[in-house]
Amino acid sequence: MGRNGPRTIADGMGSYKRIIAMTSSLFSARTAPAKATDLHAKASPDFAAKLAETQALLQRAAAQFAPVTQASSLGAEDVVITHLINHLQLDIPVFVLETGALHAETLALLERTQAHSRAPIHVFRPEQEAVIQFLREKGQDAMYQSMDLRKACCGIRKMEPLARALTGQRAWITGLRQEQSNARAEVPLLDTSEEASKNLAKFNPLARWTWGDVWHYIATNQVDYNPLHDQFFPSIGCAPCTRAISLGEAFRAGRWWWEDEAAKECGLHVKH
Ligand code: ADX
Ligand code: SF4
Repeated sequence: MGRNGPRTIADGMGSYKRIIAMTSSLFSARTAPAKATDLHAKASPDFAAKLAETQALLQRAAAQFAPVTQASSLGAEDVVITHLINHLQLDIPVFVLETGALHAETLALLERTQAHSRAPIHVFRPEQEAVIQFLREKGQDAMYQSMDLRKACCGIRKMEPLARALTGQRAWITGLRQEQSNARAEVPLLDTSEEASKNLAKFNPLARWTWGDVWHYIATNQVDYNPLHDQFFPSIGCAPCTRAISLGEAFRAGRWWWEDEAAKECGLHVKH
């Protein structure tokens, strides 16, 4: 091509095609869904120490607290923990409360995890009769009508199956992090406050991890994750009760968004 433009028609067509190709690649780069790994992965300066602490804690859980199990919602934190359990070849089975109201993306990840995990993945579902009766009496949108009805739904779909999942366990492992909300700011690495009453310890091995740490681990270890995280769902629960968040909104703003900030717990981590 000459300095002032194409020398021939063929030259001209070539440059036209190049411009179209460049423009469309720019366009597709702009419109391609943002990858959560690209957006969030950023290790803290002391990430290596935190990772070592987490690994040591998981090893301790397996060695000293058996039978112990991981509670996984298949969210970003939980896929990190399951990956560590598999990587360290720990004897820690995983359970998922499949509430019957999870997103298709979460169910697909559950299937992939069951196919690839070394640690067994146990699925606990609500009692069908109780769900049917609740739906018949209160309707499918009951959770939006009052907090009592929302908690009743969580009771049937989450709390009752959780009680079954924890029966006979000496400890459980969760993905709670201090950064997730004010209510979780004091979450300890090992919570023994319910040991006396329930003989159940609770490990929160990512308690001190930042969101950037979680995604750094996922990115560097190529961990399979829920694609809803690429659509601005940082915290993922049941489909009717989870929405994407916008820029500047709090981490858990998309959970039970019609309720007060302080009430945003379904009961899984509330002490009774
Ligand atoms: S919730 O209480 O508001 O639902 P959140 O979604 O933040 O909790 O998850 C916190 C931790 O609770 C997870 O890291 C996981 O350990 C456990 N958890 C939450 N939902 C489930 C689920 N459906 N199945 C198993 N564990 C879960
Ligand atoms: Fe029901 Fe919503 Fe609770 Fe899921 S999160 S159990 S759909 S109220």
